Amino acid sequence: MAAPATPADRGWFVTIEGPDGGGKTTQAERLRAHLVASGRRVHLTREPGGTWLGERLREVLLARTASAAGAPTDPLTDAFLFNAARRQLVGEVIRPALEAGTTVVCARFADSTLAYQGYGAGVALERLRALAGIATDGLRPDLTILLDLPVEAGLERKAPGDVTRFEAEFDLEFHRRVRDGFLAIAREEPGRFVVVDAALPVDEVAGVIAAAVDGRIAGGGDQSDVPGGAATAAG
Ligand code: TYD
Repeated sequence: MAAPATPADRGWFVTIEGPDGGGKTTQAERLRAHLVASGRRVHLTREPGGTWLGERLREVLLARTASAAGAPTDPLTDAFLFNAARRQLVGEVIRPALEAGTTVVCARFADSTLAYQGYGAGVALERLRALAGIATDGLRPDLTILLDLPVEAGLERKAPGDVTRFEAEFDLEFHRRVRDGFLAIAREEPGRFVVVDAALPVDEVAGVIAAAVDGRIAGGGDQSDVPGGAATAAG
């Protein structure tokens, strides 16, 4: 098998992660606009979703039906479904875009499964890493922005019509484990992560992300050369 391509000869793969209510959708759109303004081709997508199948799976995964269904959904079942949507998105959208030199910005990716189904719901991280490896054929983000904020603040920000099964049916302790899980993952891979304080005003967060992404992209393709590790921006 050929050595994996580096961002020098394909598009950058940037993911935006974090607990609920951190503003991932807004910030992903702001980042897209920033990158387009600086002359890049950008494809913006999200998980679960981004393909016909993925959007159908999203409806099923986020619907608040667990109590109506009689039994809570097994977290490993959730992990399989998120990874099914992920596989379709990688094959249909992300890889072709990257190979065409397009930068891909994706709101949530495999770190969300580690944080929610792993740290949050207790599925062994090794099993989740194996599943994600199969689903993505080993594709990993070049850069991940972690929008971090206290759990209560995030949940308060969500509009009532935008509350998913995970927010409605999992308690605060679950969401605290998710947040701590994201921070633990970021500590393990400081070269990939930029941790941003999502409690700051929207424009300020967008500015911090734009600067971080510009810095990494300008820094070139070899992630191990990027100095500084996990930058905790303004907080
Ligand atoms: P979404 O609306 O994308 O996120 P947010 O609420 O932050 O705007 O909802 C996706 C939900 O699915 C969110 O609660 C996290 C959860 N999720 C997982 O539990 N595992 C996963 O692998 C992914 C991608 C999402």
